[in-house]
Amino acid sequence: MHHSASATRRPLPRLGDAARFAAWAFTPFQHMAARDLYGLLATRAFTTDGLYLNLGYWKTARTIDEACAALVALVAEAAGMGPADDVVDVGFGFADQDMLWMDRFAPRHITGLNVTPIQVRLARQRVKRRGMADRITLIEGSATAMPLPDACCDIVTAVECAFHFHTREDFLAEAFRVLRPGGRLVLADVIRAAPKPDGFRRRIQDFTWSQFAQKFSVPTANADQRVPYAAKLQATGFEMADVAAIGEHVFPGWHRALGEDSALFARLPLAGRLPYRFLLNIDARTVYGAFDYVLATARKPTREG
Ligand SMILES: C[S@@+](CC[C@H](N)C(=O)[O-])C[C@H]1O[C@@H](n2cnc3c(N)ncnc32)[C@H](O)[C@@H]1O
Repeated sequence: MHHSASATRRPLPRLGDAARFAAWAFTPFQHMAARDLYGLLATRAFTTDGLYLNLGYWKTARTIDEACAALVALVAEAAGMGPADDVVDVGFGFADQDMLWMDRFAPRHITGLNVTPIQVRLARQRVKRRGMADRITLIEGSATAMPLPDACCDIVTAVECAFHFHTREDFLAEAFRVLRPGGRLVLADVIRAAPKPDGFRRRIQDFTWSQFAQKFSVPTANADQRVPYAAKLQATGFEMADVAAIGEHVFPGWHRALGEDSALFARLPLAGRLPYRFLLNIDARTVYGAFDYVLATARKPTREG
């Protein structure tokens, strides 16, 4: 279905990149902006076919390819995406999700926004090769300053990326602005889990979250839990806000796949493989105990006030 990534995926990291990854991974307090991180990752993606970069939805999926596609299908289904819809998709990676949506849900048009130049460049080529360039427009730009007019779309999506945005709240305001009245917002997002009751486990949660936030360019303001997340949606003006926990169908499947699928494991950068080899001996509930994976949905009211 998707274009094979083998022609474009770099087989071995260049030494310079490996050194930059190692400095990022192993130097305390070393920070990299999301755009630089994904630029450095280049075409090292998770799937065999296509270039997805999400943890996948494993409710029925058996492989990482199926799971990544299932997650983006879940987002489109939650949005009720169909032929009447203009979609703004933020953080589209290499646009696999946009091509899948065009194939299966046939929205009228998709406008993608992404901050990582190499992803935008490659995604444009892939969309063109698939003959979809007239229906999928990809723009280099940020979720928090969308170069788009007010009320230009029916659906805003962000698959596994809103935790990066400076800030998620600013992005929600932009999403609200670009949506038409009655428009839908659907986000697959990573947030903080509710704190564990006992002190030791809570300290582990805090440590894990702070490592994640620091290494994966997550602003402090985005350390939301489910209830404050829903409150932010409402405060922005959205109605019917729902923040559903779907982590049980994400983290254990991803963790198991990393243990069982050596090709997937090998696609992680070396600086990630080294610590993760140790984590494979620990159960997913512990490894991902600091996180909730959520499907957040909301609607812009049909009329204001
Ligand atoms: C984990 S990847 C997910 C990619 C894709 N949605 C997928 O599921 O394969 C996060 C994506 O968010 C993008 N991103 C990060 N910060 C962004 C921002 N401020 N505005 C737009 N895109 C951003 C990155 O370039 C990257 O494509």
